[in-house]
Amino acid sequence: MTPRAERLRVGVLASGRGSNLQALLDASARPEFPAEVVVVISDREGAAALARARAAGVDAVFVNPKDFADRVAFDLALVAEFAARRVGLACNAGFMRILSPAYVRAFAGRAMNIHPSLLPAFPGLHAQRQALEYGAKVSGATVHFVDEGAVDTGPIILQASVPVLPNDTEEALSARILVEEHRLYPEAVRLFAEGRLSAEGRRVTIK
Ligand code: GRF
Repeated sequence: MTPRAERLRVGVLASGRGSNLQALLDASARPEFPAEVVVVISDREGAAALARARAAGVDAVFVNPKDFADRVAFDLALVAEFAARRVGLACNAGFMRILSPAYVRAFAGRAMNIHPSLLPAFPGLHAQRQALEYGAKVSGATVHFVDEGAVDTGPIILQASVPVLPNDTEEALSARILVEEHRLYPEAVRLFAEGRLSAEGRRVTIK
């Protein structure tokens, strides 16, 4: 049998629950998936995401923001952790900190984020609540490359829509969107790993 080419090495940044991380871990567990999560970093020591990583046998690293003089120093520590493990794609999955240009440059074209709205609508925090308050009839999920813009501004890779139903609550809408998130993120990682994404300006083409 010919030895299998090494899979794309993925690093994940996550601050909380880690359900999107779990979707990526579950995908990694399938031998035919062309990428594998090799490290998870959190800025919160007790993050469930770290426990999920450990349970999957993946390196789980807490990087304490308080140990660093400023945001750039913290971000460069993240870059160093990823570089030490030869990470080829950096995925934000519920990472609650804005990354500095120093980080974004280190992973230019190799960093993704997932956001619970149809960007460019409702960037930032509480996207589902924003959609409800605005009266939107559809919302959804977006996977995009991370760029140096403020938040959630990078070129869009994949999107999926869900209806906003009458009498929806923030929880109900979030749960409906989350189903799509868990489907989209592994799919975006797979397309990247297979070399099927090309970006020209803001436009990402899928081959
Ligand atoms: C998700 O809704 C994601 O789109 C947003 O933060 C949430 C993280 O959830 N950026 P989880 O930690 O992946 O469960």
